Amino acid sequence: MGTMDESGLCVSECSRCPALVDSRSRIVNGTGPEDADMLFVGEGPGAQEDSEGEPFVGRSGSVLDDGLRSVGLIREDVRITNCVRCRPPENRDPTTEELENCRGYLEREIDLLDPEIIVTLGKVPSEHLLGRSVAVTKEAGSIEEVRIDGTPRRVLLCVHPAATLYDRSQEDTFTEALERAASLAGVDGSDGGSGQTRLDGF
Ligand code: URA
Repeated sequence: MGTMDESGLCVSECSRCPALVDSRSRIVNGTGPEDADMLFVGEGPGAQEDSEGEPFVGRSGSVLDDGLRSVGLIREDVRITNCVRCRPPENRDPTTEELENCRGYLEREIDLLDPEIIVTLGKVPSEHLLGRSVAVTKEAGSIEEVRIDGTPRRVLLCVHPAATLYDRSQEDTFTEALERAASLAGVDGSDGGSGQTRLDGF
């Protein structure tokens, strides 16, 4: 079915989703420290991510990087992953079956990381991890405790970074959710990103 590397975090081979095997150029695994306190979960790789092999490196990634900086973090401080690791054709949403096929990899990543807070970026990851329908614009910034693979996890809902590109009014919603996540993970963003690069030890 699928093959993981030694860390258990990276899928090196998988052919569970025929349509995604056709559309991907590579599997895009999560990135960031293996002991990060914050885990961001997106929907799935887009064209740029598929081409570079890293999550959130396109326009959405720039928005995420800017948002992180505004709360005193940089990308290297956090872990970033997706619900599905292969780019869906024409950037369509992943199907329920594709989400389920990839779920075990995500659960494994969450289990190994054991983050303080999981931030879901957009409707798809929010609904996937909460197991219910989510009005993400309305619910952004709220926190829910949810069992993931049997373990209670704190999940903070957030709009997708791309939403701020189409609707400027969502910028504040996005930044406020990141502020809340940073404070829950023990980061005080008051230094505006200058110097604070670790979540622990401060
Ligand atoms: N959007 C996502 O949901 N994930 C990515 O990796 C990039 C854009």
